[in-house]
Amino acid sequence: MAEMVKLFVNGQEVEVESGKNLIDAVSAVGIEIPHLCYHPALGADGNCRMCLVGIEDGRPPLVPACKTPAAEGMKVQLDAEHIKKIQRDVMELELINHPTDCPICDQAGECSLQDYYMKYDGQESRMTVPQVKKGKKLDFGCGVVHDQERCVVCGRCVRFTREITKTGELGIVNRTDAARVNIFPGQPLNNRYALNVVDLCPVGAMTSTDFRFKQRVWFLSKEKGICHGCSKGCNIFIDHNREKYKDEVIYRFRPRLNEEVNGYFICDEGRMTYKWENDQRLITPRANGSEAIKSAAVDSLRNAISQASKAVFLVSPSSSLEQQFAVKAFAEQAGATVLGFSDGYIKAGDGDDYLIQDDKAANRAGLALLGIDATREAFEAAMAEADLLVSFDNALGCSYDQDGLAKVLGSCTLAVIATNSDSLSEQATIAIPTASYSEYSGSIINCDNILQAFARAVVKNDPPEDIVEIVNRLGGELENNQQVWAALKKAVPTLAEVEPEQIPEQGLALTS
Ligand code: SF4
Ligand code: SF4
Ligand code: FES
Repeated sequence: MAEMVKLFVNGQEVEVESGKNLIDAVSAVGIEIPHLCYHPALGADGNCRMCLVGIEDGRPPLVPACKTPAAEGMKVQLDAEHIKKIQRDVMELELINHPTDCPICDQAGECSLQDYYMKYDGQESRMTVPQVKKGKKLDFGCGVVHDQERCVVCGRCVRFTREITKTGELGIVNRTDAARVNIFPGQPLNNRYALNVVDLCPVGAMTSTDFRFKQRVWFLSKEKGICHGCSKGCNIFIDHNREKYKDEVIYRFRPRLNEEVNGYFICDEGRMTYKWENDQRLITPRANGSEAIKSAAVDSLRNAISQASKAVFLVSPSSSLEQQFAVKAFAEQAGATVLGFSDGYIKAGDGDDYLIQDDKAANRAGLALLGIDATREAFEAAMAEADLLVSFDNALGCSYDQDGLAKVLGSCTLAVIATNSDSLSEQATIAIPTASYSEYSGSIINCDNILQAFARAVVKNDPPEDIVEIVNRLGGELENNQQVWAALKKAVPTLAEVEPEQIPEQGLALTS
């Protein structure tokens, strides 16, 4: 438990964490100190002077809040006229050469400069000389486009490449109103986390080629989610919108702070996995190798399972714990063999020592906890005798080449329950579309054994059912996540005391 201190802000007593800088300390109790260059992941640089505040203890008239630790009894002034004037003066300085780009700027609606102008400035420009012209639309690489005229030279992006990725591709060249951020000649951004500079930039100077001009941010609904791009399980915002007469579309993933998992950032590959939530979705059910309505496909699979003498249920290492357990329970009930073979998800050597993991499955730890065998040997031994394979969203096509897949399938009937259309779903006799992770609630366990819960973020016009619901329609006894958890707690000692609705925001470290 952090030590707390009492201090006064504009005469009002507040209790804050001792030692934190004033920006973070008072923001925890809902008081804003405007700032541009400070970011909690990058520390205080002290260059923008937007955070100047008064302290009534004989210090200089104004001090930067980003560099001033909260201390007992401190009297902080934010509303004195001379502080308001310095805020207006700093804003005026920042805006002297700033283009009036807000109507066409992606950052509008989530821009610190725009918001601070409305809150702390509001004056008309007094400039009568032409503005300094700088570079626009500069391709910095990795899908980052830079606008030097919008830049407030806060240095966050530069510090990110120096302190976080340690790749140092960005620098600030020249001084005064000629200062600008640039890459070194012929050396664009070249790191797997580069798009974080777009989020870090407090203004619209760093934009993403992927998101530029796609949506006004105030139209986006911003839900919490967890990236399923690898076993790290980084916390994200899922920004989506349903335009009139259309279906829900996800426009971007952005990092969401979780000190226990990913801190403030995510990797670029994970960020782009939102596309799989939108594109190449399996839409049309199939039964007996032909297009069918969903109920016919479900009936067909139910019959196939009841008639099979040796069925194999193959679960996905990215499915939620609830889904994995529901499939396992159904396999026991139906006399099928449940397995989790998924070698194709592992890209040996692809991970790094920061966030990115070799294992591109979000919940392989769930398979282990439930005792589901994920070895190739067990899968191939079971397949040698099987007459029905049901893939519960397992991307088996990644684990074999075409010949290998044909060999392992043999004459076995193939059924898939899948989110996306791929080579496996295309050759399946029975195919049932299912919800993807942005469309259902559940929990996953990451590579550090942290159990994290997530809620449904997106509701499609015609929402596909999630695997728990489909398994229930196939004859499984568990109807929903509540029933799954009741059974899970009894079956898995590690989860016996876990209340799913009380899993903390930062996740729950499992002890065994
Ligand atoms: S591009 Fe953005 S983050 Fe980088 S220095 Fe300019 S304003 Fe700051
Ligand atoms: S490190 Fe893994 S979990 Fe994190 S954003 Fe990247 S792919 Fe997603
Ligand atoms: S945030 Fe303190 S000087 Fe920039």
